[in-house]
Amino acid sequence: MTNVIWAVVGILVFCACVCGLENGLARTPPMGWLAWQRFRCNTDCVNDPHNCISESLFMQMADIIVTQGYRDLGYDLVSLDDCWLSRERDARGRLQPDPFRFPSGIAALADYMHKRGLKFGIYEDYGNFTCAGYPGILGHLQTDAQTFGDWGVDYVKLDGCYSHPVDMDKGYPEFGYFLNKTGRPMVYSCSWPFYQIFSRMQPNYTAIINTCNLWRNFDDIQDSWESVQRIIDYYGDNQDDIVPNAGPGHWNDPDMLIIGNFGLSYEQSKSQMAMWAIFAAPLLMSVDLRTIRPEYKAILQNKAVIAIDQDPLGIQGKRIYKDKGIEIWARPITPVFQRHYSYAVAFLNRRTDGTPSEVSVTLRELGLDFTGGYSITDVFDGVHYGTVLPDKRFKVDVNPSGVVLVRCDLVKSTGFGTRSQFREPPQQNAFRNPFQNNLFSPFGQQRHF
Ligand SMILES: *[C@@H]1O[C@H](CO)[C@@H](O)[C@H](O)[C@H]1NC(C)=O
Ligand SMILES: *[C@@H]1O[C@H](CO)[C@@H](O)[C@H](O)[C@H]1NC(C)=O
Ligand SMILES: *[C@@H]1O[C@H](CO)[C@@H](O)[C@H](O)[C@H]1NC(C)=O
Repeated sequence: MTNVIWAVVGILVFCACVCGLENGLARTPPMGWLAWQRFRCNTDCVNDPHNCISESLFMQMADIIVTQGYRDLGYDLVSLDDCWLSRERDARGRLQPDPFRFPSGIAALADYMHKRGLKFGIYEDYGNFTCAGYPGILGHLQTDAQTFGDWGVDYVKLDGCYSHPVDMDKGYPEFGYFLNKTGRPMVYSCSWPFYQIFSRMQPNYTAIINTCNLWRNFDDIQDSWESVQRIIDYYGDNQDDIVPNAGPGHWNDPDMLIIGNFGLSYEQSKSQMAMWAIFAAPLLMSVDLRTIRPEYKAILQNKAVIAIDQDPLGIQGKRIYKDKGIEIWARPITPVFQRHYSYAVAFLNRRTDGTPSEVSVTLRELGLDFTGGYSITDVFDGVHYGTVLPDKRFKVDVNPSGVVLVRCDLVKSTGFGTRSQFREPPQQNAFRNPFQNNLFSPFGQQRHF
């Protein structure tokens, strides 16, 4: 009996410490389309009806997401961002959309998404105003959560302008409580750590994981390679604090994908996609899907990179090497076998001198030492390298500001473990630390340094 009680206590403690927010949502990083980066706060539907923030913009994106195959690849969310609101609450104190730009109302827009097998996301702000100056939720938390539930919202992005970062430790959980009380499952996206870090506070990630399905740590993305690189650097430089917080149901959010817009080259677009997959990041496209060029669409629709991003283990990757503009990042993924992980490995070239850089490593130098070897496939060009053993030298050519992303799957045919071992679910703490091996010199023959 005592044993049983202790087992129960053990399970409860385990859940309180490890599982985080348990609303059953976002078991893999959310995927979809978010308006902000591409369309910002364009409210001028008189002069620019095609691009303004209006219900027809979201309906058009939803139609394309369905008809052009995005939904079936996992991009199943269409979300408003700022500037959908009316300046005034209604007579009963509830939020309402701008009546000219959203004449059918938000419930109808949510319904439009649901009928197409999509989820509907909304934006608000834990402050007196949203960042663009529309009504915020402060003073109306319960009413607004209930309104979102009544409208059929599936995902709430809660920003943090016009509020005090010290109040967020109380405010974000409070709104999460009211969301939960509606009884409608809603993914909860928080800006809480970002505003606290910005005001030099230390975010309480234990509380954040217990409250939010995803959260922003760093600045808004802008339409440039420089902005993408700043985010990559932030995640690499702070990885010891950030990476352990990610897992099924709770994710770091490095912000939207800007692929297909104006600021990234083709190589840089692959770099963003690869790095976001290494980060186990939400894949939130913010691009005009009506006009995106086919080669950029192909990056967003690359099944192999999406599979890495959505890997069920949900372990975020880390930067394991950085020197002379070359970085190597690795993310543990399935399949898992005999206490070893498979890996996604990104070779990122930050150099801008002409001609590709050759990077030459052995898998063992990267910490991939499974004696049966790894079956290696290039995610973007589809080249299959066959089985590569840990001590065999492996070379890639990485284009300037480009990436080579490979998937290294354990080769399980060595005949050691039994079949039942093979099927056992991974027990996290039984594995060797996937990042313990950081003492190595990854570059053997160097051509271009
Ligand atoms: C929000 O508005 C109220 C009422 O005007 C004010 O008392 C409060 O200080 C404001 N809060 C913030 C964070 O600006
Ligand atoms: C509310 O929270 C409880 C306890 O964590 C959870 O079991 C339930 O699924 C949540 N419900 C919704 C609608 O989020
Ligand atoms: C962080 O949040 C957790 C969970 O809410 C709480 O138990 C803990 O005391 C907080 N830590 C600090 C330093 O405030």
